[in-house]
Amino acid sequence: MENYIYFNNAATSWPKPPEVIEAMKRNLTECPVFGDRQNIASAKDVVKIAREEIASLFEAPDSNRIVFGSNASELLNAIIHGTLKSGDHAISTYAEHNSVIRPLNTASKRNGVELTYVRVDERGYLDIDDFSKAFKDNTRLVVINHGSNVTGALQDIKKISDIAFRHKVPLLLDASQTAGNIKISLKETPVAYLVFTGHKALFGPRGIGGAYIAEGFDFPPFKQGGTGILSEDPFQPERIPVRYETGTRNVPGIVGLTEGVRFVKKIGISKIIEKKHALLSILIDAMKDNKKIILYSPDDLDKSVGTISFAIKNWLIDDIGYVLTNSFNIIIRTGLHCAPMIHEILGTLPIGTARISLSYFNSEEEVERLIKALNQISVLK
Ligand SMILES: Cc1ncc(COP(=O)(O)O)c(C=O)c1O
Repeated sequence: MENYIYFNNAATSWPKPPEVIEAMKRNLTECPVFGDRQNIASAKDVVKIAREEIASLFEAPDSNRIVFGSNASELLNAIIHGTLKSGDHAISTYAEHNSVIRPLNTASKRNGVELTYVRVDERGYLDIDDFSKAFKDNTRLVVINHGSNVTGALQDIKKISDIAFRHKVPLLLDASQTAGNIKISLKETPVAYLVFTGHKALFGPRGIGGAYIAEGFDFPPFKQGGTGILSEDPFQPERIPVRYETGTRNVPGIVGLTEGVRFVKKIGISKIIEKKHALLSILIDAMKDNKKIILYSPDDLDKSVGTISFAIKNWLIDDIGYVLTNSFNIIIRTGLHCAPMIHEILGTLPIGTARISLSYFNSEEEVERLIKALNQISVLK
């Protein structure tokens, strides 16, 4: 097997902690005595345990309001299509991922939902005044990418949530990039909906994600079917979480995610941040020293999720990724990163940027090898 250095953790994290792999293996090896759903209350209800672990990570008041789905995109779709109807207005930003932009645009095309995308600045930050001015009488949802998967910019969620609250508009926070990377406290900053994915900084496998749906913010489920309980009901049960968890769930994925969350808690988010910041400081300083490198990310690491976008003068973006992979065994990501609108502001359409995203598992030696490779590449053209 090739020995890769992996810097594409904003896409999916790698490697996974061994306990994640072990737990999934165990789950697939053991006899599924209770099947997927259990009528019998059991201390071994692994899905319940997962809800509790995740609720405690986010300081969410009720673990039954954590619902699982196949990824963040599924829950973003469920909430956007479940809450917005014809004549409603929704506010979002230029920093969103296609998993927000496309369902919003579809809701607009199909049902005439009115949309305002508020611009962000050239580092990816939302202007709070512009955001405040976007509210209308018919605004029914605000959707915000907590941490940009292109520039790394972290939005000021406290301010955003206060403004949305003042307007009595539910806030849907896309925490795909931030869950596991920074502290998220629903106690300190309550939101109506928090969507997370399992396979990035929470160290779970691909194909698992979820949402916290705050009390009072239920919406019609977009899928109906088997729930394993309340089977006599000819309609989808009202009770949360089964209301939103139709069909056989990805239990091996949920079990893996539980261990990923436990790993994050064991290390501690502040330790994770500390390690990543130390590595990022070395990397950013070196990239700034190289006059051929153009950086598109914020300087202040405290206001960043740590993802760095860049270009190298005279180089095609995709060629940077190609050469790093094939000549240096270093994996980054190139392109639009599924977030096309922010590139309009960065001036990087249609080719996008090269993106580096670290994880807790990266080392200083790996960062030094990346710096060396970038310096070598940049003098070639
Ligand atoms: C900001 C953001 N939102 C949503 C998603 C979609 O996540 P998932 O792959 O779990 O559907 C991603 C994944 O790249 C993301 O970065």
